[in-house]
Amino acid sequence: MTTTDNRTRATIVAVGPGDNGFLTLKGRQTIEEADLVAGFETVLNVIRPFATKAELCSMAYRDQEEVLDYAVNKVINEGKSLVVCAWGDLNVSAKELLDRVRKRVDQVDLVPGISSVQIAMARTGISLEHTVFVTLHTRAGTETALDELLHYLKEGQRNVILLPRPYDLMPAGITAGILSKGVDGNQQMTVFQRLTHEDEQRWDGTINECAVITSEFSDLSLMVFHKPDTH
Ligand SMILES: C[S@@+](CC[C@H](N)C(=O)[O-])C[C@H]1O[C@@H](n2cnc3c(N)ncnc32)[C@H](O)[C@@H]1O
Repeated sequence: MTTTDNRTRATIVAVGPGDNGFLTLKGRQTIEEADLVAGFETVLNVIRPFATKAELCSMAYRDQEEVLDYAVNKVINEGKSLVVCAWGDLNVSAKELLDRVRKRVDQVDLVPGISSVQIAMARTGISLEHTVFVTLHTRAGTETALDELLHYLKEGQRNVILLPRPYDLMPAGITAGILSKGVDGNQQMTVFQRLTHEDEQRWDGTINECAVITSEFSDLSLMVFHKPDTH
């Protein structure tokens, strides 16, 4: 959308964790009104029923810069309104996508959504104020994130919610790694896969048990380390 002062704009809508029942009404209305809706294919699949008039611009990791350039060019040259869709909530481990949009337009409006983190907290009954969030879903800084994980697990004062990193830093490898750094292997944890999808799965056990799992985990996996005295 272009404003009267010619500032270019885009809206980022967070679509929720997969089941489109978790897309907010505000997000749905924004998508229904958009001329262009860009997002990764899995994200577009969530909102496809609501993007009735929009041109869908599907991106993959390798071509996301080109697809965003294409969409933003239509904003600048044709006055189209653009929505970029983000998975889960847009303030949870989605900064790289937000930055990509922010560097291309003058103003970015944000429509927040429901995060996989909130669904995991609802499934386990834990509260944000008793929980620390750590993501490995970042190109840089995983050593720092793993150090933080170790710190909070050893401290034992909070639950820790951790987003693993497909495909190299996944639950079995992460737990094997933290065990070698002296974390208590009897601590209870949960791994969720594909939260809110029809094939959602939950695994509960100890850190020791997770470290020897040999089956593959979904790229939509989320780990909860439970504060020792809550179990
Ligand atoms: C780039 S991060 C984006 C997180 C997203 N902004 C959110 O709020 O859920 C992607 C990671 O989030 C986690 N994730 C997202 N959706 C999930 C789901 N439905 N079930 C389990 N984990 C999920 C996985 O760890 C996945 O690799």
